[in-house]
Amino acid sequence: MTKLSPSILAADFANLGAQCRTVLDAGADMLHFDVMDGHFVPNISFGVPVLASLHKALPGAFYDVHLMISDPVGYAAAFAKAGASCITFHVEAVNDPAAAIRAIRGCGVQVGISLKPATPVESIFPLLGLVDLVLVMSVEPGFGGQTFQPGAVDRIAAIRAACRQQGVHPHLSVDGGINADTGARCAAAGADVLVAGSMVFSAADPAAAVAGLRAL
Ligand code: DX5
Ligand code: ZN
Repeated sequence: MTKLSPSILAADFANLGAQCRTVLDAGADMLHFDVMDGHFVPNISFGVPVLASLHKALPGAFYDVHLMISDPVGYAAAFAKAGASCITFHVEAVNDPAAAIRAIRGCGVQVGISLKPATPVESIFPLLGLVDLVLVMSVEPGFGGQTFQPGAVDRIAAIRAACRQQGVHPHLSVDGGINADTGARCAAAGADVLVAGSMVFSAADPAAAVAGLRAL
């Protein structure tokens, strides 16, 4: 069974706590928290105070924090203090990814690495044994509601194969344009965590959407 990480970017922020509670009660395994700085990506979302408030309201949840920011190491401690469980940064954002992994892990959280659709998968192969999670972007990061880029399926399979070859087992997550069809294709290729924003929070029945995606 795949794990589901609903992206709260698609939630109604005026009812954020209630909507998060709904998806967690429906079986969501974690909450995906998309941080954008208007620099690494051309959009701004939300940051540390929002995570701190959510964590206070829902302290038992696993917070899957996706930093789409230019200085992930500089902000990692603040997100860890606010309640992050896993902090994922972009390989494109840093000069020394291994050092960034060490620095973020030093904040007492799990660490994930993400890559944009055009970044060669081989660039993260040396890092697979150092991280808890690999987040494959199946859209250009920055906005919810985009169309899934089908090339992500082969990229997931290639990363899964490299993990197998290296004998390492990070979670393999996919983010962008995930619905029942694309989610199933990614799961078949080796993804074990599906991130879904619009499919969950724009659904007429978010709880039913969670159950459907978790069954893939
Ligand atoms: C995009 C974000 C995604 C986004 C996914 O930059 O990283 O997590 O919220 O949204 P959907 O599922 O609507 O494509
Ligand atoms: Zn994301």
